[in-house]
Amino acid sequence: MRILFVCLGNICRSPTAEGVLRRRLVDAGLSEVVEVDSCGTGAWHIGKAPDARAQAAASQREVDLSQLRARQLDAEDFARFDYLLAMDDGNLASLEAMRPADCVAHIGLLLDFTGDSGRAVPDPYYGGEQGFDEVFGLVERAADGLIEHLRQRLEHAQ
Ligand code: 4NP
Repeated sequence: MRILFVCLGNICRSPTAEGVLRRRLVDAGLSEVVEVDSCGTGAWHIGKAPDARAQAAASQREVDLSQLRARQLDAEDFARFDYLLAMDDGNLASLEAMRPADCVAHIGLLLDFTGDSGRAVPDPYYGGEQGFDEVFGLVERAADGLIEHLRQRLEHAQ
């Protein structure tokens, strides 16, 4: 199972989601069967490490984002991943616009897995550090819902 988190720059929200889910998958014993990656729809930050504020918010909760590097969404991602999960409506619209006709992946909003359908992870880039804490909390809740969903799907596949 392959999961791709998608935001605009791939330096704030989607790397946070990648770091949190990786950590939770290890705790859930699913790290061998679920692969995680993240990307941005924009090209501005390709090759960069996550924003220092995102790294700080994550390291306070013992999640290390320092090794991640930004990359841009690629046409091949639609065939490679089973889930492409956007942080907000803008990212979702970009995914829908690039989606190939034969794509069978689940494309939706990450926060749909919290039960709060249609909600967005707000872009923290132009705000203060508090916004990064909010992102982390929202992503943590969604990661729990996503892991539960994946566990059920994996059980039914056996
Ligand atoms: P992200 O945040 O999409 O969560 O990585 C942003 C990062 C950079 C920019 C916007 C949002 N930017 O405009 O450069």
